[in-house]
Amino acid sequence: MKVVVYSSKLYDKQALCRTLDPQWQVVYFEAALDLNTVPGAHGAEVVSVFVNDRLDEPVLQQLAAGGTKMLALRCAGFNHVDLQAAQQLGIRVARVPAYSPYAVAEHTIGLMLALNRKLYRAYNRVREGNFSLNGMLGFDMYGKTVGIIGAGKIGRLVGKMLKAFGCRVLVYDPYECSVCKQLGIEQVQLDEIWEQSDIISLHCPLTPETDHVINADTIAKMKRGVMLINTGRGALMDTEALVNGLKSKQIGYLGLDVYEKEGALFFEDHSCEIIQDDLFERLLTFHNVLITGHQAYFTEEALNHIAETTSDNIRAYLADEIMQNEVKA
Ligand code: NAI
Repeated sequence: MKVVVYSSKLYDKQALCRTLDPQWQVVYFEAALDLNTVPGAHGAEVVSVFVNDRLDEPVLQQLAAGGTKMLALRCAGFNHVDLQAAQQLGIRVARVPAYSPYAVAEHTIGLMLALNRKLYRAYNRVREGNFSLNGMLGFDMYGKTVGIIGAGKIGRLVGKMLKAFGCRVLVYDPYECSVCKQLGIEQVQLDEIWEQSDIISLHCPLTPETDHVINADTIAKMKRGVMLINTGRGALMDTEALVNGLKSKQIGYLGLDVYEKEGALFFEDHSCEIIQDDLFERLLTFHNVLITGHQAYFTEEALNHIAETTSDNIRAYLADEIMQNEVKA
């Protein structure tokens, strides 16, 4: 049985080699899956992909024509998969529902603290022998109000960590969160999040309802100088509205681990190229913006968990067992 693994960096390969059945014929491609690279999957019953692989109808049609019957996502989000097309083409899809909510929650807190206390600026200044504190003024996290959108595994953990700082934590989620109540986190409506929060952090999935949930209108409702953090999905935020909000100082701090057009940039070394995305380059010019390249999940524990769950998903598919992590249209 042949498995083709797309978007596989050395670290993915090392983790997968430890867990995938040695009897399977596994082919690793560093390239992402798209219409150009899809011929590489010819003859592979199982194809494994990550967050920025292309899984629209034309690519899925090519996969099906080449004999692919199962897609093993190595990520939690499946907003990039045309599930309806996959179902019609007889391709089953399974994901890794949670690899390490701790990894993402801890990175989220890292972005908040680094932005607040300007750690990324301090690193450069001190190395250059500049010990001036001008422009380094931060604020106490204690007593601040933080609004979380999405009270799932990651959002709840972020809330719990912030409670330890002495923050007031608000959460918006369309479903009741009883655990939140026990943690002393207040479940509120979205408008209360916009109006009352000093920091807003996104932890909901990308869906038609949450697409550009941060836009010019919602930014206008926020406190002046608000800190915005996105470790969810890039398209939760309208990047143009972010740039305008930063220019007008309505947004005081911006921390991103994801970006709506990250597919063309992230996970690759573009340091010797001229980056053509002007909006992204504009974001980088602000001293109060900190961007990481979709690395919130990137811990040893999470990589091992991704490899183990991917392996289990493929095994369940091959054994015709119930696939616990199957996603359907
Ligand atoms: P989860 O499925 O446990 O929680 C998502 C929560 O969002 C649920 O409570 C759900 O009810 C809520 N939700 C659904 N629709 C909503 C809406 N319209 N408004 C507000 N909340 C809504 O997911 P988990 O594990 O907490 O992950 C959250 C997101 O984090 C994922 O969807 C993914 O996009 C992102 N993620 C990012 C990673 C990174 O490396 N940056 C790694 C892993 C996940």
